[in-house]
Amino acid sequence: METRIYDFKEDIKQNTIDEKKLFEISKFIKNGGLVAIPTETVYGLGADGLNPNALKKIFIAKNRPQDNPLILHVSDIEEIEKLAYLKIEDKIKLKNLWPGPLTVILKKKNIIPDEVSAGLDTVAIRIPNHRITRKFIEICGCPIAAPSANLSTKPSPTNLRDTLADMSGKIDAIIDGGDCNIGIESTVLDLTTDTPTILRPGFYTEEHLSKYWKNIKYDLSIKNSAATPKSPGQKYKHYAPNADVLVLISDSVDFRTEILRILKNTTKTIGLMVFEDDVKFFEQIDKIEKDNIISMGSKIDLSLMGQKIFSSMRNLDSKNVELIIINGVKDEGYGLSIMNRLKKSASGNIKVLGGENEDSFDI
Ligand code: TXA
Ligand code: MG
Repeated sequence: METRIYDFKEDIKQNTIDEKKLFEISKFIKNGGLVAIPTETVYGLGADGLNPNALKKIFIAKNRPQDNPLILHVSDIEEIEKLAYLKIEDKIKLKNLWPGPLTVILKKKNIIPDEVSAGLDTVAIRIPNHRITRKFIEICGCPIAAPSANLSTKPSPTNLRDTLADMSGKIDAIIDGGDCNIGIESTVLDLTTDTPTILRPGFYTEEHLSKYWKNIKYDLSIKNSAATPKSPGQKYKHYAPNADVLVLISDSVDFRTEILRILKNTTKTIGLMVFEDDVKFFEQIDKIEKDNIISMGSKIDLSLMGQKIFSSMRNLDSKNVELIIINGVKDEGYGLSIMNRLKKSASGNIKVLGGENEDSFDI
């Protein structure tokens, strides 16, 4: 199958929308096909959310386990009425947070196909903060089911190149909306329980959401990896590049010493994802290619790290790096969301320097 690419970067720059082009692309969705869509978090792999045959294709293209439910993307909060039960007090709160990087779990209505909810009595819904994609959903005239547009177990794609790498030849079209601003997937918030519960951390943190819902809490599995997660997708291997990943947590001096020690003891090709203050230091070290050192920006503002985290792993994979060493961050605020992804990318290979070692990594 030829995967067609539709470039909307100029529309984004000029604040315009080529509705004719979107109408043309919407025919793929109406005919039960697959279209990758940009959002502010990551690229999604979209299909008509009410068409079981189209939904089945998502699972095949991604090689996704059948019991992992999908998120329905809508363009307007009023569309939820048809799909799920949304309390008026929650609706008022959500108007402050949407469009945005938040998915809510609601009791589903009968219209929801089993392929979306994977046998649960709930459904995940979100309004993405991406002008082109919201207009596309509106033109399609149906909710768009969209998981992240990666092959299962791989890091989510946040640009055209990474979406193509996993989906070229498997889907009808890709809407190129440039790089995603946020870079990690939406916060998933369960509103079906007495206490609203964060099932997957994201850009909207507990602190931020607790302005709207008192007593909000994290699902136990987020802070304790031994607990079974309530979100089916959280239990699978995830966000893993081809290279091994080691996450090092420390102040920067220990971090440098530890990397020098690793370099001495390994023949592997190393890639580094480090904060800006460390880049110059490592560029002077012969054993690491300059090209394999990627800056995560400032340690104080983690937004750039979030934005680049998946694309940097994929970038290092494309250079055949064998071990990616990443500077981990504190498990708090947005750092907790970033570490949630990194722990999975590293399959538990995390080392806390100068503290208690969670799991040492053997080189
Ligand atoms: O930012 C995002 O959320 C991206 C963009 C494309 O919108 N989408 C995304 O979808 O990350 P996906 O399928 O990769 O992750 C959806 C997560 C999974 O962990 C899934 O198990 C969970 O949401 N989920 C979906 N429906 C659920 C439900 N009814 N109850 C609990 N968890 C659910
Ligand atoms: Mg995903």
